Amino acid sequence: MNETQVKTAVITGAAGGIGKELARRLAERKLNLVLVDLKEEAIQQVIQELGLNDSNSLAVAADVSKEEDVQNYVNKAVEKFGTIDYFANNAGIEGPAGLLEEQSVKALDLVYNVNVRGVFLGLHYVIPVMKQQKSGAILNTSSLAGLMGAPGMAPYIMSKHAVIGLTRVAANELAPLGIRVNAVLPGTINTRMMRQIEQNSGSPDEYKKANESATPLGRYGEPEEVAAVMNFLLSDEASFVTASLYTVDGGMVGQ
Ligand SMILES: NC(=O)c1ccc[n+]([C@@H]2O[C@H](COP(=O)([O-])OP(=O)(O)OC[C@H]3O[C@@H](n4cnc5c(N)ncnc54)[C@H](O)[C@@H]3O)[C@@H](O)[C@H]2O)c1
Repeated sequence: MNETQVKTAVITGAAGGIGKELARRLAERKLNLVLVDLKEEAIQQVIQELGLNDSNSLAVAADVSKEEDVQNYVNKAVEKFGTIDYFANNAGIEGPAGLLEEQSVKALDLVYNVNVRGVFLGLHYVIPVMKQQKSGAILNTSSLAGLMGAPGMAPYIMSKHAVIGLTRVAANELAPLGIRVNAVLPGTINTRMMRQIEQNSGSPDEYKKANESATPLGRYGEPEEVAAVMNFLLSDEASFVTASLYTVDGGMVGQ
């Protein structure tokens, strides 16, 4: 494709806190956007809020843990816009709180299906499109929970470690073609997910305060601040960046 052609980005979890802010950044660059999330209405709200329209956006309701849904969002993106230049493999769930002996196999499967199987399936179906184009950049959303252990969220922490493994495999497989694959690792970010994790802790206010004081910058991050880094990684500005892990955590992991 030549430089004047409009590029296309696919974002999963696009109706969520971080996904929506990434969509906003990519829309400012006038990319075509394929927005994927569980519910069509939630995606339509994002389309409306960002002032997108039928010619520059496509809403695809999909459960990223279902193979046929992933195949469908990839096919729909290619049918409508012809290419997938950027892929934000971002949808994720937190799962329940509880010590290892309290976590059920059901909870493990639930979290793994979305956070690991979903990310794997996204890669599995997007990579052939990018290989055919001989171009593209992929960004998986891991977490600080992909680098650190903490009590009480084993399925989530395991799943986000797995996303780092997937990122490294994909980056190594695709580097010979010039296709870049990176991971963003948010810390504690002000979205629905952190509100739920605070609730799950049983004492939301104290949990929030403890998180804030464990963060060198002394506060939660905003989804816009994560989207800014994601926007960079999904651009030619990051042309020599692959197999990298970008923490956006207010300094937490660097202590
Ligand atoms: N908020 C944080 O503090 C934080 C920290 C580290 C990592 N993350 C990661 O960032 C990503 C985005 O999270 P967020 O904070 O925006 O949370 P969020 O809950 O606001 O957004 C997640 C979005 O993913 C969608 N989703 C969930 N399951 C899905 C499925 N099976 N198929 C399709 N879509 C599905 C949800 O509907 C939601 O819109 C997640 O992968 C999360 O694990 C968040």
